[in-house]
Amino acid sequence: MTYVIALPCVDLKDRSCIDECPVDCIYEGERMLYIHPDECVDCGACEPVCPVEAIYYEDDVPGEWEEYYRANVEFFDDIGSPGGAAGVGVIEKDHEIVKALPLQEHDV
Ligand code: F3S
Ligand code: F3S
Repeated sequence: MTYVIALPCVDLKDRSCIDECPVDCIYEGERMLYIHPDECVDCGACEPVCPVEAIYYEDDVPGEWEEYYRANVEFFDDIGSPGGAAGVGVIEKDHEIVKALPLQEHDV
């Protein structure tokens, strides 16, 4: 099981979640961040700190953002398990679901 980052992160990337994760499994793409499904230990520390409530336990992702489970998993298809995001830096890509979105406006 894993936590999932959904649409509200796109084009915002607050990054507060990164500081909370004890296993450094939240990776940065160009337009949003993605949680590595195999590295996440389900501690849930990231979820309450996101100011736009973009993070959900996989069973609790709102229906309208259901496909973000797939986005978080498939983002790592060609990356594998780096074992820590800090050493990887920004990964110059996004999942196709995210790439297809128009620019997201944010008030925060
Ligand atoms: Fe995104 Fe929220 Fe983290 S906006 S970077 S999921 S704190
Ligand atoms: Fe890290 Fe959040 Fe998972 S803090 S271990 S990504 S639940």
